[in-house]
Amino acid sequence: MLLAITIEQSHTANQDVFLQNAWYVAALSNSIGRELTPLKLLDESVVVYRSNDGQPVVLEDACPHRKLPLSMGRLVDDHIECGYHGLCFDASGKCIIAPTQERIPPTAIVKTYPALDKYGLLWVWMGEAKADESKLLDIENFENPAWHITSGDYMDCQCNYLYLADNLLDPSHVAWVHKTSFASLGTEDTPLEMQENEQGLIVSRWIYNCEAPPFYQPLLKFSGKCDRLQHYEVRFPSIAINKSVYCPPGSGGPHWKPREECYEMISYNFLTPIDKNNTRYFWLQQRNTDPSDEKITLSISKGAKQAFMEDKNILEAVHSGITNTTSRPINLALDTGALRFRTLLQQIIEAENLEPK
Ligand code: FES
Ligand SMILES: [Fe+2]
Repeated sequence: MLLAITIEQSHTANQDVFLQNAWYVAALSNSIGRELTPLKLLDESVVVYRSNDGQPVVLEDACPHRKLPLSMGRLVDDHIECGYHGLCFDASGKCIIAPTQERIPPTAIVKTYPALDKYGLLWVWMGEAKADESKLLDIENFENPAWHITSGDYMDCQCNYLYLADNLLDPSHVAWVHKTSFASLGTEDTPLEMQENEQGLIVSRWIYNCEAPPFYQPLLKFSGKCDRLQHYEVRFPSIAINKSVYCPPGSGGPHWKPREECYEMISYNFLTPIDKNNTRYFWLQQRNTDPSDEKITLSISKGAKQAFMEDKNILEAVHSGITNTTSRPINLALDTGALRFRTLLQQIIEAENLEPK
């Protein structure tokens, strides 16, 4: 059971410092092609394109000469030509043509970022340490034909990414924010469990013998009441895994094992900081039933987006409220997971900053 918070903690401390050595989702893979796409990630401007062989290329969006954004230039074959004086840079950031002089300046180098496609998402490693593919999220059942996964979507939120992380460690908010979709009796006050592990933190609870919420009722393979799991997990730095399980009453609980009649929905949420005040929020939904039913897929995608819009509406106002009021926000017991996650992430960021460069 969660303990009440006794120590006041600041909600805004270090919101502008990001973990660098991590994979962040930069875009939906299918949105990046043979054009120069400017993006801002962790307060850095980058330009993204695909080389002729389809590989994603991510470079700092600044020409080393006069810092014109390279995205204002043009893509010529597999290199970018700067739109001001024509310096050309290949996918490794090396200057390969300097048309206004004979010698290519050795300092004409653009910073590059490792990037790859996985799960229909384009991932970028922003830090100086060697990109570590073993740190990429593993989506269980991604290849399993009995499961369906949506192709993904995103929206921009005018709030710090940690408010979204707070929200995705807070199963209680559904009782008020998602009244017509995810709320059911018990989402207000059933005690929460918190569990830490190396990857992050989980806040969860089983609600027994309750009505299924409106969003899920048509999707379940059994009628009547249910046992319901709310599993809210955030992994460092900002991947939230939100798992819902609905099973016949009496079959849920801490020792629950996946069974055919149980409905499972996993929402993967990728919170990419644009800067300290803005977040690009990507998501995918995975379910264990009706993998080829397009109508269900569409209704889930629509329902999820509607719910995320409800969160966006609240969290943008929370960001603005906390930024613009002088009195400090208080904490409730329900904040325990979110505050602990912030503390742990802060420790990881501090440790990263102490590493020799
Ligand atoms: S600013 Fe890019 S070549 Fe001059
Ligand atoms: Fe929500």
